[in-house]
Amino acid sequence: MMSEADNETLVRTNAGTPMGEYFRRYWLPVALSRELPEPDCPPIRIKVMGEELVAFRDTKGQVGLLETACAHRGSNLFFGRNEDCGLRCIHHGWKYDVQGKCIEMPNVPPGASLHGKVSIKAYPTREYGEMVWAYLGPKDCIPQVPQLEHGLLPASHRYVTKRLQQCNWAQSMDGTVDTAHFSFLHMPAPGFKSNSAENIAADEKRIGWLRNDPLPQFTILSHEAGFVIGGARKADGQELYWRITQFMLPSHSITPSTMPGETYYGYSWVPVDDESVWIYVYAWHPEQPIPAAERAKYEKGGYGQFAELGPGYIPVRNRANDYLINREQQKKVSFTGISGISEQDMMAQESQGVIADRTRENLTATDIGVVHFRRLMLREARALREGIEPTAARRPEAYRLRAGGAVLSGSLSFEETMTERFGTITGKVPA
Ligand code: FES
Ligand SMILES: [Fe+2]
Repeated sequence: MMSEADNETLVRTNAGTPMGEYFRRYWLPVALSRELPEPDCPPIRIKVMGEELVAFRDTKGQVGLLETACAHRGSNLFFGRNEDCGLRCIHHGWKYDVQGKCIEMPNVPPGASLHGKVSIKAYPTREYGEMVWAYLGPKDCIPQVPQLEHGLLPASHRYVTKRLQQCNWAQSMDGTVDTAHFSFLHMPAPGFKSNSAENIAADEKRIGWLRNDPLPQFTILSHEAGFVIGGARKADGQELYWRITQFMLPSHSITPSTMPGETYYGYSWVPVDDESVWIYVYAWHPEQPIPAAERAKYEKGGYGQFAELGPGYIPVRNRANDYLINREQQKKVSFTGISGISEQDMMAQESQGVIADRTRENLTATDIGVVHFRRLMLREARALREGIEPTAARRPEAYRLRAGGAVLSGSLSFEETMTERFGTITGKVPA
């Protein structure tokens, strides 16, 4: 349970709020690179943490991210012409470069003092891991983009997409640090045996461990970028089945299902406003290209980490159609009757309300990750308010992390399990 004041601090990210200012100390993904596929392509609307913006790729390939209102009389630059290294307002032809500088004012006489003096708000951008990142914070302390592992690899080794979720960012993040829900939400219906159903995430053996132990034991290790949380369930004999998740400030994670040699999956949450959030999703394999067949499945929403998407990266099964819940399937096939692990998560999280009321919760021992995440976010946001800048934003290399599953001897500590599975205690990719 949280106080109303703490909940408000956690969930609000508009400019000027404590969490909004905290998020603005980090680079955040604001678009997929492929949404701006080539120089001088059409501009796109961007909304991030309540700010309405327009992004365009100029003739040289650089991405500009500008406020939408033209400095002349406020027409929306989304309708602008992207031409010859600038975005030109359709109303009277004022033109802006990627820095927001007004470089042409055709309705102002040559030599007039206004020339060269007008700019609109522009945020710096970078491209990394097939995502356009933006920095919306103070210009005197711009950090570096975090080195998430998929961005360090050749394009053949990764797949990147995004989807819209229609609830506050923090309750979706709650879901990611809570691996206990897997024993229910993503399970087959009781008595259902086959692992061939698309609704089921893991093999029969893992499903057994997950189902038989709904009370995983959690251990949390803090590190420079956030923390890693391990949930241990009884496996066969004296072994434990560990599901290990990374949380990276302010809102990235790596999922706990990947077994050694398999593909890794990560997410970045970027608030659109307080009532919706973009989830950027990436798959990567450090050693080999992702085969075309696997890629095709991702595109159709297979493999759990990806949702089946309609136009605008909006999931086909969503809040508006009750996620196409099938009650017959719920009886006989899957715990929810909803197809897709992502859609199941989305249903559980969005159904908590557009902004979850955390004052009415009754938390249990398996919510330890959720509690840790919320406390860390509140501590960090309040520290910034007192003038203490977040250190994680200055440690881009600390984000080179992995997470996943392991089945190892129950006599090993979490630290030993991490070292055995990833080569380092924190899951950092060995140099
Ligand atoms: S409103 Fe944009 S040029 Fe006039
Ligand atoms: Fe889930």
